[in-house]
Amino acid sequence: MADVASVVLDITRSGGGVGAEVRGVDLRRVDAATFAAIHHAWIEHQVLLFRGQSLDDDDLIVFSRRFGGLDHAPIQENGRRFVEGKPEIYVVSNVIENGVAIGSLGAGEAVWHTDMSYLEDPPKASMLYALEVPPAGGDTWFSNMYTVFETLPPGLKGRAEKLMIKHDGTYNSGGYVRLGVTPTDDPRASPGAVHPLVCRHPESGRRCLYLGRRRNAYLMGLDLSESEALLDQLWECATKPELAWTHHWRVGDLVMWDNRCTMHRRDPFDNASRRVMHRTQIKGENRPAA
Ligand code: SIN
Repeated sequence: MADVASVVLDITRSGGGVGAEVRGVDLRRVDAATFAAIHHAWIEHQVLLFRGQSLDDDDLIVFSRRFGGLDHAPIQENGRRFVEGKPEIYVVSNVIENGVAIGSLGAGEAVWHTDMSYLEDPPKASMLYALEVPPAGGDTWFSNMYTVFETLPPGLKGRAEKLMIKHDGTYNSGGYVRLGVTPTDDPRASPGAVHPLVCRHPESGRRCLYLGRRRNAYLMGLDLSESEALLDQLWECATKPELAWTHHWRVGDLVMWDNRCTMHRRDPFDNASRRVMHRTQIKGENRPAA
């Protein structure tokens, strides 16, 4: 990899608890030194925003692949919604064309989550590129799970370090049942993967809380009521507005986030407006580990 110091990026912190904007980079033309600097900035800031991009789907795939192999679009409430011929591009949209949804997640709230943590090997990163945005609403929030862990009250932190958590695979962040899954609201019985509740990031070496999503989560080995009470406490700490950054989208924005140390959620918006986003997901190279 090229020497990071050979390119200095124009970086402005978001002003929230996580994230930064990188200016002056055309993501269609990223040389090795610039890529190394972007990668370095991403590990440091966890979420990066690049405004004013003009990417077609192939450009988005090429830039995403610089970070690793790509997943195919996940199975959502209405199956896999991807761009024709490009299964790596997952469409997030409320638009219905000829009676068929072109994407997933509709226009409602997408609750706090990290992507696909219900898998044994969750994706390490996701990129979302804005093609059409509503005039209001549909903002995406990001939280900093390093800071969440570091600021837990000492007693809670000590307990969290010893626990494993089951991440539910029944519902997506829009509250819809994933296609092919038989729904259950018993967190002990629902499908999902078990990961350490406190994970060490394989690249930064920092520790963070790895919560996934609230619904149907279960802290292994605890009585259900104890698990629920402890999760409620942890989620209260994890969703403090001061630890988050809210991004208001413009067409041409590309935002990439690190699923290993952030969570995100989306505000609802008026379903009469169109919101069309193309998303890629980069495969994880390491299972979440303490
Ligand atoms: C997602 O959770 O990946 C979608 C976020 C968004 O629509 O802003």
